[in-house]
Amino acid sequence: MAIRLKQKLEKKFDAEIRFFKGMMQGPKQVGAIVPTSSITARKMASVVNTGSGLPVLELGPGTGVITKAILEKGVKPEDLYAIEYSSDFYRHLVEQFQGVNFIHGDACDLDRALGEKKDLIFDCVISAVPLLYFPMHARVSFLESLLARIPAGRPVVQITYGPVSPVVACPDRYQIQHFDFIVRNIPPAQLWIYRKA
Ligand SMILES: C[S@@+](CC[C@H](N)C(=O)[O-])C[C@H]1O[C@@H](n2cnc3c(N)ncnc32)[C@H](O)[C@@H]1O
Repeated sequence: MAIRLKQKLEKKFDAEIRFFKGMMQGPKQVGAIVPTSSITARKMASVVNTGSGLPVLELGPGTGVITKAILEKGVKPEDLYAIEYSSDFYRHLVEQFQGVNFIHGDACDLDRALGEKKDLIFDCVISAVPLLYFPMHARVSFLESLLARIPAGRPVVQITYGPVSPVVACPDRYQIQHFDFIVRNIPPAQLWIYRKA
C-alpha cells in the first residue's frame, strides 16, 4: 500500500517536473504552470458520449492528465486522437499510453496534423491549447475548424484561465456555454463549451 502510494507520488512529481521544464522552454506554448488537476480533467472528459461510436479528439495533451481521464471515461485508446506540439511531451505520451493515436503536430493546422485521417468526424473535441496567446481572429478560425469536425450539437470543450470566454461571441456561427469554474486547479480554471449554431 505504502509502496503504491510512493510510486503514485513519484509519477505525479515526475509529470510536474516535466511540465515545468516544458513551461520554461516554451511558456506561451505551454500556457500554464502545473498540469491540469484530475478534477478538471474528469469534468472535461465528462462530455464524451461513449455510445456515439465516434472517436474523440484531444488537443494539447501535455503530460496526459486529460488523456487519462478520457480513457477512464471508457474511450478505447484506438478511438482517441491527441495532437501535441512539444516533442518532449509527445515522446512521453507515446511511452505512457499504449494504443492512443498521438500525433506530433500543430492543432492549428488540423488537416496537416491528421494527415490521412483528416476527414474523420469526432464525437467531441477536448482542448487545452493555450488560446489566450493567439490573436482573436486565430482563435475564431481555430474554433470553427474544430466545429467542422464534430456533429452539430456536440461540444468543443476548452480550458482557460481568464474570466471570460477566450473566443469572442458569434451567435450566428456558434453558441457559447460557460461549463464550469474549478477552484481546485492551479490556477483556478474556467471551462467553456462551444457548439455549432
Ligand atoms: C496548458 S498545457 C495543457 C497540458 C495538459 N493537457 C494539461 O491539461 O495539463 C498546453 C499544452 O498544449 C500544447 N500546445 C500548445 N500549442 C499547441 C498547438 N498549436 N498544437 C498542439 N499542442 C499545442 C503544449 O505543448 C502543452 O502541452
